[in-house]
Amino acid sequence: MSCWAVVVAAGRGERAGLGHNKVFEPVRGRTVLARCLDAFTRSGRFDGVALVLSEQEIPAFEALRQREGPFPLVRRVVPGGASRRDSVYHGLEALPGDTQLVAIHDAARPFVTNDVIDATLDAAAQFGSGVISTPVTDTIKLLLPDGSVTTPDRGALRAVQTPQAFRFDMILKAHRSAQADAFPATDDAMLFEHYYGGVKLVTAPGAQENIKLTTRADFEAVAGRGFSDMRVGHGYDAHRLKSGRRLVLCGVEVPHDRGLDGHSDADVAVHALMDALLGALGLGDIGGHFPDTDPAYEGIDSMKLLQKVMDEVRAMGYGMGNADITIVAQKPKLAGFIPRMKARVAGALGVSPDRVNVKATTTERMGFEGEETGISAQAVALLIRDALNVPAN
Ligand code: CTP
Ligand code: MG
Repeated sequence: MSCWAVVVAAGRGERAGLGHNKVFEPVRGRTVLARCLDAFTRSGRFDGVALVLSEQEIPAFEALRQREGPFPLVRRVVPGGASRRDSVYHGLEALPGDTQLVAIHDAARPFVTNDVIDATLDAAAQFGSGVISTPVTDTIKLLLPDGSVTTPDRGALRAVQTPQAFRFDMILKAHRSAQADAFPATDDAMLFEHYYGGVKLVTAPGAQENIKLTTRADFEAVAGRGFSDMRVGHGYDAHRLKSGRRLVLCGVEVPHDRGLDGHSDADVAVHALMDALLGALGLGDIGGHFPDTDPAYEGIDSMKLLQKVMDEVRAMGYGMGNADITIVAQKPKLAGFIPRMKARVAGALGVSPDRVNVKATTTERMGFEGEETGISAQAVALLIRDALNVPAN
């Protein structure tokens, strides 16, 4: 069944008071928007995502794509509108005409889980709509226009969230009518109720954690959670210098009269970092994951292998705390290349560059590095279990 998501991120995030759109705010090393797109990728049920952004923030998303992406599921980037309803409408109009189901989601809810997404899509496939909801824990008062107050039965109240999934043809028609009628709506379920008489509410484990980041306090609360499970890993590697080879360190080619010898591109620094990541999670070493007897890895760009290792880290529910790499080489001088090395490594890891440090040292001509027989590298990496954003396990 052809299934798309519309993720709306075109708000201003005024209540969060961060001075910029809150969806570009990092939460523990990864921005809200990237986390939200991760969740839709992890779901595996979508043919594409239409991401709705305010027009002037589309370049900021392209920069995010470079840093934390590439988000291949995002197949449409659509300019949003003045209200959330307009933004959703623009997203729906951008979907392929043969789309059958659509899940509409606020980018401000980055902790959405597979269970929550599945519950809404399954209901939409069966009933035409599926809206994630939770019981209400506060007692709610209804303030009437004459100033009097009544108390609805709490047991009958539900708070609704996103995603809200619908049959595509029905919700598109409802949104088109709402445009014509100027019907005000704070969510899409309201439109469905108005034009079709109701929606199907669903519940799922994970709905409690599927919070919307609205205020600064919400950001502070999630920043403090999940730090208890941290893992540290160390990596070491050394390669011999040989003429006729390129010298590649942290994904950057450094001009030199010789390069490092090895089966892959022999990027000794990235190899040390991969071993640190694998070591932190008790997954052995790169030799076991990418054997040098396998022709698939002949001459391969080590940054590709680093991305694979980081995918594995994320699949286990961990995120990057920070990494620190030391390259030990007598020559060439590396200082001028370090900013690019940091950026390359951070890009492959999908984290902001301030999470990665690269430094170089000589050994004052002592040992094999000092004698220029070879170059070695060491790395440490700290991984943090992301308690709010893990696949069900
Ligand atoms: N949104 C949108 N287009 C708008 C307004 C809101 O795409 N014109 C999106 C927001 O980016 C957010 C979601 O709708 O992901 C839910 O809205 P809300 O939490 O209110 O976010 P903001 O409107 O950005 O925040 P605020 O109301 O505090 O300014
Ligand atoms: Mg708003």
